[in-house]
Amino acid sequence: GDEWAFICKVADLPRNDIGTAKHPGGRLDLAIYQLDGEIYVTSDRCTHGAASLSEEGEQQGHIVECAWHNGRFDVRTGEALTMPCRTPLPFFDAKVIDGDIYINPK
Ligand code: FES
Repeated sequence: GDEWAFICKVADLPRNDIGTAKHPGGRLDLAIYQLDGEIYVTSDRCTHGAASLSEEGEQQGHIVECAWHNGRFDVRTGEALTMPCRTPLPFFDAKVIDGDIYINPK
C-alpha cells in the first residue's frame, strides 16, 4: 500500500556523509544518501557481507562502495554494480515533506 512512514529529518543527516536510521518496522537499519538535492534510502547492510554501508561505505556521486571488499551499488536503485556484490540492496521509495524524510516501508 501507500503507507509512508517517517524515518528522520534531513537536518539530522551528516553533511557529506551517509546517514542512517531505523526501518519503521525495526527490522533493519537504513542507509540514507543525499545526491543532487534528492534523498535515497536502502538497507544499511551490504548484501555481500555484514558491513554497515553508513559506517563502511564511501559515496561518490550515485555510487556507494563498500570498504570491506570494494563492491559497489547504485544508491538510486540499490542495484549491485561490481563484484563481489551480486544481490541488490533492498531499496525504499523516499520522499521529503517539510524537512521530514518518509519511506514506503514495504
Ligand atoms: Fe561489502 Fe564484501 S561486505 S563488499
